[in-house]
Amino acid sequence: MLGTILCTASLPKPSAAVSSRTIASFVASSIGRSASSSTTPTARNMSTQTPEQKQSLIDCPTIPLRDGTSHPAIGFGTYKVGFIPASASSAVAAAGATDEPQRTAEDCVTDALNSGYRFLECAEFYGNEQEVGKAIKASGVPREDLFICSKVWTTTIEKGDDAIRAQLEKTLSDLGTDYVDLYLIHWPVPGKHVDAYKTVLGLKKEGKVKNVGVSNYAVEDYKELLSAGITSEDKPVVNQIEINPFLYRKNTIEYFKSEGVVMQSYRSLRDGKAMDNPTLISLGEKYNKSPAQILGRWCVQHGFVYVPKSVKIERMVENAQVFDFELSEEEMATLDALTTSDAFETFFGLYKKCVNRDTSKDGSMEGVKTDITID
Ligand SMILES: NC(=O)c1ccc[n+]([C@@H]2O[C@H](COP(=O)([O-])OP(=O)(O)OC[C@H]3O[C@@H](n4cnc5c(N)ncnc54)[C@H](OP(=O)(O)O)[C@@H]3O)[C@@H](O)[C@H]2O)c1
Repeated sequence: MLGTILCTASLPKPSAAVSSRTIASFVASSIGRSASSSTTPTARNMSTQTPEQKQSLIDCPTIPLRDGTSHPAIGFGTYKVGFIPASASSAVAAAGATDEPQRTAEDCVTDALNSGYRFLECAEFYGNEQEVGKAIKASGVPREDLFICSKVWTTTIEKGDDAIRAQLEKTLSDLGTDYVDLYLIHWPVPGKHVDAYKTVLGLKKEGKVKNVGVSNYAVEDYKELLSAGITSEDKPVVNQIEINPFLYRKNTIEYFKSEGVVMQSYRSLRDGKAMDNPTLISLGEKYNKSPAQILGRWCVQHGFVYVPKSVKIERMVENAQVFDFELSEEEMATLDALTTSDAFETFFGLYKKCVNRDTSKDGSMEGVKTDITID
């Protein structure tokens, strides 16, 4: 079974049936475990993993969703694992890159499962769910020990009900399961996302989807859902958006938290592009952690679901070692302050481009909201 419970003050209360442990007690017990192992590799040069470290990832803290379901606090991101979608910004560059051997998604997910990751963050768009499914099957990890999330892509959202239903069947078949723990609307496609959300609610009633969430929703997209008659029982349980110290949209995050919506963080590692940041380096030196681990710790300490991606097993292991130290309030505030106003503007540009991406309106501003909460 998925392990212990993380409940921070800012998250919705777990149901009475769900026990809770504070992050502080989890940190203390993790430190105790690490200290007892004299062979623990240093964080910054971690190419191996002790059995205790693997078990602590299997038993990672969880965050309660509104219905009492336990959501693992850390998962393995599968975007650009074994396959790069044609409309990804890095697709052209990747096509010409030959110096690094490409590993298949099956190999990478096998490594992630062997390392102890039990939450797999997947999507139609990532084009690799069949390979992910092969790794799941070969691993022998019981289905009930996994937490699988998938997302329906813009092209399918635009096509509507039948296409969404057919896509979920394909996802289930590819992943080798008869339900997903969480199914997300990948982007709030203008004029289409509300109906798509209602279709997915229907799939939940049929038992193929345990919980329904959204991704890349601005406050205003969420309000559009609510004004379309979505009841409080049917509100999204998560919103998956980019969150890291370089894009910390505090007002947006606080709004969703106040609605009981758990925030899943993507690009928690800022796509690997901020590892030379002096603040991350100096905190890493203080705690004997890598810049990636400082980013991961910031994320879980805020109570966001953390979904690091790497195709390298040593980094998968490294990225998960974030529960055995704690940043001070002052250090958290210093990291919080790394977001610039330019970063908000860059985000807004991406939002406007992506809501219609891969639909018949690709490249146009038709229906795109131009007045959203960007911070
Ligand atoms: N909902 C959405 O629209 C959306 C958008 C983007 C992502 N996501 C989800 O979130 C997941 C994570 O986001 P992401 O993959 O975009 O970015 P990310 O996890 O922030 O960063 C991944 C990049 O960081 C590198 N990296 C990983 N660990 C590292 C370490 N310890 N040190 C240095 N570099 C490291 C990786 O390279 P290597 O692989 O070579 O190690 C890769 O280039 C995705 O896989 C996907 O599941 C969702």
